[in-house]
Amino acid sequence: MALFPWDYDSLEGLWSGDMNKPDIREGWKLMIDSFVGAIVVGGTNSVAVLPSKGSPGGFCLRISDDKTPQADFRAVAWALSNEKPLEPLIVCSRGSMLYVLSAKGKQIIGQLRGHGGEITSIVVHPSFPYLVCTSSRDFSARIYDLTMPPRDKPNNPHWPPSSAPSLGGAPHGLQSSEPEGIGIGRCLVVLCGGPSGGHEAAVLGAAFHPTHPLIATCGMDRAVKIWRLPQMSFDKMAREDKPLFSSTRIHKARISTVSWLGLDVLATSSAPALMRRNGDRNDLYFEDGTIAIWRWLGFDRFFPATRPRPSKVMRGCASDYQESSSFKLLSVVPISQSARHLHVAQTHTNDYVIAITLPDRVYLHNVSDFEPRVPPAFPLDQDLVTSLSSKLHLDDDGDEDVQTVPTTHVHKTLPKGTEIAVPNVTDDLQASVLGFYGLLLGILDNKGRMWIWTDATQA
Ligand SMILES: *[C@@H]1O[C@H](CO)[C@@H](O)[C@H](O)[C@H]1NC(C)=O
Repeated sequence: MALFPWDYDSLEGLWSGDMNKPDIREGWKLMIDSFVGAIVVGGTNSVAVLPSKGSPGGFCLRISDDKTPQADFRAVAWALSNEKPLEPLIVCSRGSMLYVLSAKGKQIIGQLRGHGGEITSIVVHPSFPYLVCTSSRDFSARIYDLTMPPRDKPNNPHWPPSSAPSLGGAPHGLQSSEPEGIGIGRCLVVLCGGPSGGHEAAVLGAAFHPTHPLIATCGMDRAVKIWRLPQMSFDKMAREDKPLFSSTRIHKARISTVSWLGLDVLATSSAPALMRRNGDRNDLYFEDGTIAIWRWLGFDRFFPATRPRPSKVMRGCASDYQESSSFKLLSVVPISQSARHLHVAQTHTNDYVIAITLPDRVYLHNVSDFEPRVPPAFPLDQDLVTSLSSKLHLDDDGDEDVQTVPTTHVHKTLPKGTEIAVPNVTDDLQASVLGFYGLLLGILDNKGRMWIWTDATQA
């Protein structure tokens, strides 16, 4: 589900202020009045828009075809186009198809094909709301521009030594030979998967940088990557296969969410990791997933403060796009293994709050309360060589010699959060979304019921 993300003041920040004109401002106020607090929820073969309390305009759109008789709308997001900035769009995906709906017209206005696998998430650019990034199980992420019509014919680069345009299609991150779709939307950028630097498994999430031309992605391959947004051009699709940063050392299991908390600080969260105890094949257990708050140390290298405009070409070295150590973990905390969904939002005091949905309740955690990581003991209490040599043995059955986890990896617990228990719910909660600077919380369960909470202490 997705909460309508804009308010009266958002117009100043959108389109870098270009749309902040008197005539649009009037209409913007009216649009906000009718959509503020609206939530779009994806379901099986349907998308529902729930307006905020008391305002009309709710609807449910059933979308089905014969090819995929039973399929869920897995990812939804709100977007705006340049031509009609006062008519919000809903971008949603079912399988590998991307749909664009008009929230006022209550109908489909665009249908796009491109991904070779299920779309897992949709994010919209924070200041250019017509740019939409979709992440997919086909190992790639694509960036669509909703101001352009779909492409009829492919315009792919040639693949040397051939001099004719490649007909590779979606599996290679190229345009397919068939028309891209109908209505609005055109893919301008593909962040390719594959061994040259892209994701090597499903991509599960993405996040546009708030101010700089960067996008972070995360996925099933335990990797989080930060990419430069390539130069977008109307007629050619840009393919990017080398990120500026890539690391699989931050989490031990698939990374399901990524968010920017600042210029160079990110928050990522991972699923529980399946581990083997003492190397025993049959002795398996799950280690808690974690939330990691970390700083990307390469930001100043690519965006030096002395350079007002970012350089045209940015090329990292192999260690950046293969396995980078240019990061510093600020805080790592475990999350409950029963956590189903995690959402990061900013509050009116500019703090970040993480909403974690458990089967029967939701916790809100203030990121400021996360404890910094404990530095390793120094000077080492025990002489390392002496302690190692005491463990030396030639036989291979030293079972009693249980490996101890280094103390730096022992996580603190999550800080105490605000607990929100939903009455009469045992294990149905699916997701929660926090918006309007933390003043509105929506909670969804698997029967399609929705709870809306507001902060009563704020007007
Ligand atoms: C988060 O914690 C900080 C530091 O304790 C505090 O100043 C801030 O008000 C908190 N924010 C919220 C939304 O509770």
